[in-house]
Amino acid sequence: MRTEETTPAAEPVGPLSGPLKIPLVGRPLRLAGFFSDPVRSLLRIRERYGKLSAIQQGDARMVFAFSPELNREVLASTDRFCVRSLAENAPKTSALYRLRTHLLGLNGDDHRKARRLVSSAFTRPRVEAYREDMAALADKLFERWRLGEVIDVEREMQQLALWVVSHTVYGVSPTDANLGLGLRIKQIVQGLFSPVAMLLPHDLPGSPYRTLLRRAEAVEQELLALIAKKRTQPGEHRDALAALVHARGEDGAPFTDEELAGHTFLLFFGGYDTTANALGWTLLLLALHPRVLHDVQDELTVLQGAPPTHEQLAALPLLDAVVKESLRLLSPVAFTARSAARGATLGGHAIPERADVFISPLATHRLPEFYEHPNRFLPERWLKGEPPSPWAYLPFGAGPHVCVGASLAALEIRITLAMLLQRFTLLPPDGARIDHQVQATLSTKAGMPMRVLARQRVASPPRIEGDIRELFEAPVGT
Ligand code: HEM
Repeated sequence: MRTEETTPAAEPVGPLSGPLKIPLVGRPLRLAGFFSDPVRSLLRIRERYGKLSAIQQGDARMVFAFSPELNREVLASTDRFCVRSLAENAPKTSALYRLRTHLLGLNGDDHRKARRLVSSAFTRPRVEAYREDMAALADKLFERWRLGEVIDVEREMQQLALWVVSHTVYGVSPTDANLGLGLRIKQIVQGLFSPVAMLLPHDLPGSPYRTLLRRAEAVEQELLALIAKKRTQPGEHRDALAALVHARGEDGAPFTDEELAGHTFLLFFGGYDTTANALGWTLLLLALHPRVLHDVQDELTVLQGAPPTHEQLAALPLLDAVVKESLRLLSPVAFTARSAARGATLGGHAIPERADVFISPLATHRLPEFYEHPNRFLPERWLKGEPPSPWAYLPFGAGPHVCVGASLAALEIRITLAMLLQRFTLLPPDGARIDHQVQATLSTKAGMPMRVLARQRVASPPRIEGDIRELFEAPVGT
């Protein structure tokens, strides 16, 4: 870990008002400081202050919960801990405000009803029907790689995830003009997570927040145009948006255009960066652990160069274990937050109303009580013993807001890896620098360079530089 001197510092603050007795973080981080490096902050807060702690700065109250029991209290008790969209403070007449009408902006019965409808677009047969398209898109990506060249694996996986999510959520092909929509949506979400937008959410000329508001307007228009097009297209509704346009709630009512725009906004973002980053991190971890890489490649020989069928995917235990372990160690959604309702308690402590309560899959996944050698990449841990509880292993979240696209992501990740690893060995060039950042999801700061080689045995792990080395114990050689 970095030394204390280099960690974003902040002034000590007074105790939280109210009867809160949980330990205050003694040398608390500034709000913006926290968001400038949330992973390091979260791991440090857990290490120093244990499973429940809090910081306060001005009106901002942040509570940190790091145990399976507390995860369950926060994520399952939706009446005590509510989702609150980051766009909640946007002007009420703005597109940014309207686009928050999605599952992670809804609570209680509103959420339950909308969730039922959105889930209907992700049933098992619907997801499985994407297998061939996913394989074709992966092939399309690999065709542009040349042996010996260094590619940015993160960017390549983002390209693939963009194609897949455009296809599955909007029914848009890689050549379609709407493909850029995904990138524009990503810019908005990154804007919402930026410390500047959080601290200065004011529509002032030239301000980053005004840019954010304008971008949201443009994206909303694009989404509404797509929705209008879907309404005129009867047929089999293979993509999620078409399914949602034609879905009906318990009372027979369809989603309004505003709801459709909000839900597809989240589906698009939820399915894009997360999956791309999961793929990128898995490829990096494999490159740094040649023994595991060889074992998976050996397991995949049964496929004889072809993409796996559903039956074959179910019979590739090591591939499955590698994906689970990568999602454990470098969870793309490193943390999530809820807002405390009036009278909420957590771990027996009263929590002030509207305090932001953070839980972290990434930090939970490193609790030594649940994971032996928590900082090591050890896929074999998934091949023996009982799996951890859903509150101790939660890369896709848990409770009523658990990821609606988890099976889609699981399929995409496994198909892509199975196809890629049969053909290629990707290795970072000696001394390549890889730093991490969190902009909504855990990604790199400046890409993930790797050389494309024909599938081959690697004698020793390549040596890399950068702060990513702080997030896991790399094997000797790196
Ligand atoms: C590796 C890939 C993915 C990861 C790690 C991931 C992770 C998560 C997590 C942790 C949550 C819960 C957030 C919270 O409780 O605050 C979540 C929710 C959600 N995810 Fe995913 N996700 C992935 C892929 C996808 C895909 C492919 C889609 C859709 C195409 C998607 C759509 C959603 C939606 C709509 C929600 C909100 C569910 C609700 O509030 O009821 N995600 N995801």
